[in-house]
Amino acid sequence: MGLQWGDEGKGKVVDYLAGNFDAVARYNGGSNAGHTVVIGNRKHTFHLIPSGALKGKELLVGAGVVLDPVVLAEELALLPNEVRKRLVIDGRCSLVSPADKELDAVLEGMRGSSAIGTTRRGIGPAYAIRALRLSPRVSDLVTGFDFDSLNRFYRKLGVDPAGLPAWAEESKALLGGLVGDVSMRVADVTEKGGSVLFEGSQGSLLDLLHGSYPYVTSTHTTAAYISAALGVPPSMAGRPLGVTKCYTTRVGGGPFPTEEKGPLAERIRSLGNEYGATTGRPRRVGWLDLVALKYAVRLNGAKEVVVSKLDVLSQVKEFKVCVAYRHLGGETSDFQASLGHLGEVEPVYETPFSLHGASFDSGLPPEGKKFVEYLEKRLDVEVALVSHGEERTSTIQL
Ligand code: IMP
Ligand code: MG
Repeated sequence: MGLQWGDEGKGKVVDYLAGNFDAVARYNGGSNAGHTVVIGNRKHTFHLIPSGALKGKELLVGAGVVLDPVVLAEELALLPNEVRKRLVIDGRCSLVSPADKELDAVLEGMRGSSAIGTTRRGIGPAYAIRALRLSPRVSDLVTGFDFDSLNRFYRKLGVDPAGLPAWAEESKALLGGLVGDVSMRVADVTEKGGSVLFEGSQGSLLDLLHGSYPYVTSTHTTAAYISAALGVPPSMAGRPLGVTKCYTTRVGGGPFPTEEKGPLAERIRSLGNEYGATTGRPRRVGWLDLVALKYAVRLNGAKEVVVSKLDVLSQVKEFKVCVAYRHLGGETSDFQASLGHLGEVEPVYETPFSLHGASFDSGLPPEGKKFVEYLEKRLDVEVALVSHGEERTSTIQL
């Protein structure tokens, strides 16, 4: 689970852990996600296919995902043929059409200066249309879908749905042989004593209910959604692992209390290659925010955490951690319910140590150890993995 605003490095972690599981399942979001796995000098960015794809495991895309068949086909084309044979898409997934992408742009335009800064992948419209019960689902491509109501809906919003029948035909061909029942697949795998790794997308602070609304994505991004989205009992998602960077980034609009601007932000952005894996947008950069992180750890019930990108801050002299927010003369360490104040709070920082000069050539250096101990104490978690580079091998298991 991402514990921040996405881009915590989940793709790398899923790839790292996938070897220990029989299947990897995506359960939320859609092609707004950009999960990067680097092996040697090859970089793979996954948008819809679970990041365990390169570990030979069964790959499941559950009902809670909104599926863009064209993006899926493009992704599959970049991978070996055999990946297709391991992939199962749940027939209950709602589809994302070109009209949804158009509507995404229309809605963003409507918001003007308070635009969310979506990925324009049609995610919000697809989930909204699902909730309105107008949505074509993957299984409907086979049985046939009556587009009449949906067409009228798009037209009312100024979006031309004329291309939809051709798109549906194309999608049906693209998804041929991939459609199944993911809820049942998970049950089958686990009944035989196997295990499934659930891969979160986006981050907890982008959760539709518990994130920095309205600057969030349009689905749930915490561990709680695993069960509902896949159609498995809650008890199955019993060991949530949170992922956080040692600093914070955010793409798109919305409050960001520890945001840093100017040359230092530029430097961290460049060292950490902080550009959106889906959109290429420069990510906003800031310090680690323990107020937000503690909240995300609590939401997910994460007892174990992965900390990523320590190599980036090892090349930077400055180091700060936000431990509280100052607001209206008072101080709080709660990421509060209404969040109306989030754009106004002033972070309270401490610099308990620095990561500057840390070298990871022979395991976790003293600076890294201090950081791990600090986080464990502050968040009441165990740090299970430390990541210090994009490469699969730049990982230290604790
Ligand atoms: P949407 O999910 O495209 O509707 O975008 C809503 C918000 O979530 C925007 O701020 C996006 O930048 C952000 N977002 C969506 N997906 C990701 C992701 O995978 N990583 C980081 N931010 C994301
Ligand atoms: Mg990403």
